[in-house]
Amino acid sequence: MTPAAVPPPRTDLDGKVALVTGSSRGLGAAIARRLGAAGADVIVTYRRREDEAEAVAEALRAGGTRCDVMHLDMGEIASIDAVFDEVAANAGHLDVFVANAAATSFRTLMDAEPRHVERTFAISVTGFLHAVQRAVPLMERRGGGRVVAVSGADTQMWIPAHGILGAAKAAMETLVRYLQCELGERNVTVVGVNPGWIDGDSLQMMLGPLYERAAGLERLTHPLRRTCSPDDMAEAVALLCTDAATWFGGNTVVADGAGGFAFCGRYSMMAGAMPQATVDALTGDAPAPSSGTGTDLADGEAPSVPRF
Ligand SMILES: NC(=O)c1ccc[n+]([C@@H]2O[C@H](COP(=O)([O-])OP(=O)(O)OC[C@H]3O[C@@H](n4cnc5c(N)ncnc54)[C@H](OP(=O)(O)O)[C@@H]3O)[C@@H](O)[C@H]2O)c1
Repeated sequence: MTPAAVPPPRTDLDGKVALVTGSSRGLGAAIARRLGAAGADVIVTYRRREDEAEAVAEALRAGGTRCDVMHLDMGEIASIDAVFDEVAANAGHLDVFVANAAATSFRTLMDAEPRHVERTFAISVTGFLHAVQRAVPLMERRGGGRVVAVSGADTQMWIPAHGILGAAKAAMETLVRYLQCELGERNVTVVGVNPGWIDGDSLQMMLGPLYERAAGLERLTHPLRRTCSPDDMAEAVALLCTDAATWFGGNTVVADGAGGFAFCGRYSMMAGAMPQATVDALTGDAPAPSSGTGTDLADGEAPSVPRF
């Protein structure tokens, strides 16, 4: 029997139109660049930093990508409507919608005021759903499309002062599941991505003088022994935008290189609490001599990393 020909991988975005929220900087800008490199026409959006959005667009155009820049506040329904009206009038359709923008007030839950919660949810829940409602009819004009929602590790683990954002992103992940169930038959795939630490400007700003030490610990203890750049994560997001990723629909893919799963071991490494001997409880053998791979970070110097 002649084996069936295997079709080529559907990993390019040639001729597709993609809109990325919050693409004036950070991960959103990297996603816009990556989607452009994969062949898509890109709509770059900003809330405040028009100049930075224009710079992203200029770089894309210089590489041969068709690119528009639009103002978009995901916390304002009128702003979302204005953008999708313009996309309908200009491009006439949309193939990919990446909901990347997020903003919150980082504070403990006991300090959260209703306006902080409302604004955070307005962007990541109400605005996200409204934008999907506007995007889907534009996707159906060309037979379907892709929605990618950027979530965050704060839905999976306690990150101090991330309670409001974590709750909003958890709701967003639930919307991803429900939307996939409702939209799958219309050939619209909805998928989420949950990155870990992204080594970019926003993290540097948030950590301030602690950034260097925190980044050092991340590099030292992460299973990949390096930090994840916005470009690294943009590549994962771009993959989810392609037809090859259709069967991820409804799921929020954790894209952290196992940094979250490894947390207990990473904490042990930081605390210098790695096992000092091989203990074979199967046989009751006496502990083998220690390999001397404890981790002591007290002096701030890079210690040797335990190998398993
Ligand atoms: N950084 C991390 O370590 C990390 C980890 C996991 C997940 N994430 C998620 O990844 C996404 C991007 O994070 P990032 O660190 O790259 O963000 P960022 O550097 O803070 O950039 C945020 C972007 O969103 C835009 N924006 C802010 N408020 C907006 C609003 N109301 N409506 C529309 N756009 C708005 C900003 O536009 P202007 O600059 O023009 O105002 C900017 O382009 C977020 O969803 C975040 O939760 C980040």
